[in-house]
Amino acid sequence: MKHLFTLNKYFAKYKWHLLLGILCVSLSKYFSVLVPQTIRKALDFVFEKVEANKNAEVQLSDSFLDLYGNEIMLFSAKLIGFSILMGIFMYLMRQTIIVMSRLIEFDLRNAIFSKYEMLNYQFYKVNKTGDLMSRITEDVSKVRMYLGPGLLYGINLVSLFIIVIFAMYRVSPTLTFYTLIPLPFLSISIYYISRIINKKSELIQEQLAKITTVSQEVYSGIRVVKSYEKSDKFNTFFDDQSTIHKKKSLELARVNALFFPLMILLIGLSTLLTIYMGGVLAARGEITPGNIAEFVIYVNYLTWPFTSIGWIASLVQQAEASQKRINEFLNADVEIKDDGLESNTIKGKIEFRNVNFHYKESGIKAIDNLSFTLNQGEKLAIVGLTASGKSTIAELLLRTYDIDEGAILIDDKNITKHNLSTLRRSIGYVPQDVFLFSDSIYNNIGFGMDKIDPISIENVAKNCAVHEDIIGFENGYETEVGERGVTLSGGQKQRISIARALIKDPKIVILDDSLSAVDTKTEKKITDFLETTLKGRTSILITHRMSSLTSYKNIIVLDKGKIIEQGSHTELIAKGGFYSDMVDMQKYEYTAL
Ligand SMILES: Nc1ncnc2c1ncn2[C@@H]1O[C@H](COP(=O)(O)OP(=O)(O)O)[C@@H](O)[C@H]1O
Ligand SMILES: [Mg+2]
Repeated sequence: MKHLFTLNKYFAKYKWHLLLGILCVSLSKYFSVLVPQTIRKALDFVFEKVEANKNAEVQLSDSFLDLYGNEIMLFSAKLIGFSILMGIFMYLMRQTIIVMSRLIEFDLRNAIFSKYEMLNYQFYKVNKTGDLMSRITEDVSKVRMYLGPGLLYGINLVSLFIIVIFAMYRVSPTLTFYTLIPLPFLSISIYYISRIINKKSELIQEQLAKITTVSQEVYSGIRVVKSYEKSDKFNTFFDDQSTIHKKKSLELARVNALFFPLMILLIGLSTLLTIYMGGVLAARGEITPGNIAEFVIYVNYLTWPFTSIGWIASLVQQAEASQKRINEFLNADVEIKDDGLESNTIKGKIEFRNVNFHYKESGIKAIDNLSFTLNQGEKLAIVGLTASGKSTIAELLLRTYDIDEGAILIDDKNITKHNLSTLRRSIGYVPQDVFLFSDSIYNNIGFGMDKIDPISIENVAKNCAVHEDIIGFENGYETEVGERGVTLSGGQKQRISIARALIKDPKIVILDDSLSAVDTKTEKKITDFLETTLKGRTSILITHRMSSLTSYKNIIVLDKGKIIEQGSHTELIAKGGFYSDMVDMQKYEYTAL
């Protein structure tokens, strides 16, 4: 239970819900016990009168109602009254405890979500998206089952047990003993059956997850699947997996079918024993016939809670396992923290001072003793072969990762001493692999903004040379993109994500190979815009295309995380090294086209 104890703080938070809930459960049980007692009194009353009638000279059967109608009406009114009171408190117990469980579920889900947002990139590399999703959905739901129904039936069981046993004991300890004998067997067998049911359901869930994963993959990669003519292979696979799913589901259905008959059998045995023993005791005059009827109702009251012991036990077990998984993530280290630093405005000077960095997950040393300075408003181009560490520089500036050695300074202050969200808000970053949300183009461009207006969206789209494309779509800016929307070309996606970065009016702009799918003319238009409108911003352009760098005075050539050449375009050409070789190669490629 140790993992579920972490939820105690929520119980403390909602203690009034909980306490009121317990009160309502007890009151509801109290009134429910008054029902069989009233029935017993009514029956005994009737028996008594009938008995008296037998010896009477005048037969009373016809005038029975006339004589005793008022008493019988009173019994009925009591029965109805107690039942209504019981119902009202039952309603209130749900309103308190189930509501509490929903409130805690809400809190818990939010706690997990905000934790997810704080966790760094590495965490997302190690943990699969499906796993993250299932912890915030399924696991939270399982914990909710413990907090709501689990707790409710638990309290229900305890209070009912105390109240009913007390009432039974007062009538006859012997009969109480006999009535209770079969109940533990009921609990134990239900516990075992529900364990089997749970195990089988889990297997079915796993099988379903397998089918879902494969289907998802096939649908996302449908073009590749179709072009490689692999539909048949997936069909067979799907068929096989579905057959396994069907077999397991049928097994579950068989066990489930056993559940109710077994329950009814055990309840029947209990009732039988009560009637038999009750009869014996009534014959001896120890109890009245009305007591037998009262006990039969008690047995029926107790069977469901006793059945639910097994069910509650397995609920608690599952919730414990789920909460363990949730705690694993809730207690995961947040490596990059804000430490509650005050936010200050960032001007945009960047300095790398002997920076070393390696990726923990692959052990690759991506940045090797790297130093460079970029004053506010200056532009820098970074070129180099793939895997030379260009994108890593961008990630380090955004503090997706923290460096091993050296220092990164922003405005002459260590990057770790800047407020993290201010830092990230000040950087307009266009990552290498563009990602657009399944939303309208309008919202995709305005993503980073608290407030957006159509005019600035349109302006930025114009400057990023994508406005014409957008108004060419049927729904214009309201066009849905992403999974369910229109398919955009690579270049269109790139320009939309540049617009998304630039609309923030960032102090620092980083374009990571963001123009690779755009033709040279459009590229020129965008870089011109960066130069004129974004004057005064510090910009880093990571690119493969040297032809766009002719005006650059500061170019870094990277190789294995080290600077191998640095200078202006003309200087580097004159030097005749790696850079000029690359320029030559690209010229050749273009003329060859
Ligand atoms: N998230 C990551 N985890 C592990 N290794 C990585 C990760 N990202 C990049 N690398 C490695 O770091 C090196 C530099 O990568 P990167 O900065 O992306 O290069 P570039 O952008 O120049 O192509 C490469 O060897 C790459 O495999
Ligand atoms: Mg890269």
